[in-house]
Amino acid sequence: MFTDEDITKLARDIVRSKKTVALTGAGISVESGIAPFRGKGGLWEKYDQEEYGHIDTLRRAPEKAWIMLKEMQNEILKAKPNPGHIALAELEKMGYLSSIITQNVDGLHHLAGNKNIIEFHGNLQWVVCMNCGNRKPSSEISLEKIPPRCEKCNGVYKPEAVFFGEPIPLDALNKANQESRSCDLMIVIGTSAVVYPAANMPEIAKGSGAKVVEINPSKTPLTGFISDYIILGTAATVLPKVVDKIKEDAPGLSI
Ligand code: OAD
Repeated sequence: MFTDEDITKLARDIVRSKKTVALTGAGISVESGIAPFRGKGGLWEKYDQEEYGHIDTLRRAPEKAWIMLKEMQNEILKAKPNPGHIALAELEKMGYLSSIITQNVDGLHHLAGNKNIIEFHGNLQWVVCMNCGNRKPSSEISLEKIPPRCEKCNGVYKPEAVFFGEPIPLDALNKANQESRSCDLMIVIGTSAVVYPAANMPEIAKGSGAKVVEINPSKTPLTGFISDYIILGTAATVLPKVVDKIKEDAPGLSI
């Protein structure tokens, strides 16, 4: 568990930093009711990652790939930002957070009110026809019959998310690299840090002289190697406390 000193330490690091960037993963949305990928109850426990997460399956057997995607869509539609997302939105509004690089496809950072969000693995909010490129909001397609098909050409829709076997969207990759290189504090929240190139971002930040701090109830491969310290707690419990601490005493923390 974490202590009050942990909270004060991170609040101080944020207030003293010239540029803070957050890297988020599935863990930040767990308290919004969205299952993570790894660990107990994770999506990859139920569905084989190599198969269901790979672009080839969506191309060859879309009805199969869409079983998992439908489950994700339904979970995401019901989800609301939790106090962890909201705390990050507050930090941005207060001028303490430059950007969020997120691996999440759930759109909850947008709903929480953050403006500068880099969606490293795309999102599930939009679908695009794999045949003709027709693009529309996911909320406008029916998932009663899967796979969903394009009204124009009967091609299969693909969410605008990144699948295994696909490159990271160039714009997101460039921006994430740039933000990681130029920050002096990176807060890594709720990611197992095993999927590359996203897991490279803390290394890039560290290599450019930034402090790296993790918020996660469990240690990760970054812990003790790349991160300077870890706050062992959940996003929705730790982040609001950090924001409260900053609100209480930003001038005091800056000294
Ligand atoms: P994972 O499911 O791999 O890891 C979730 C992390 O969140 C773990 O380290 C947990 O300990 C932590 N965690 C769990 N509950 C938490 C909470 N309430 N607060 C904070 N942390 C919590 O998710 P990601 O690291 O995001 O990619 O996975 C990375 C990528 O793997 C995903 O973007 C996805 C997946 O395959 C693609 O599909 C391309």
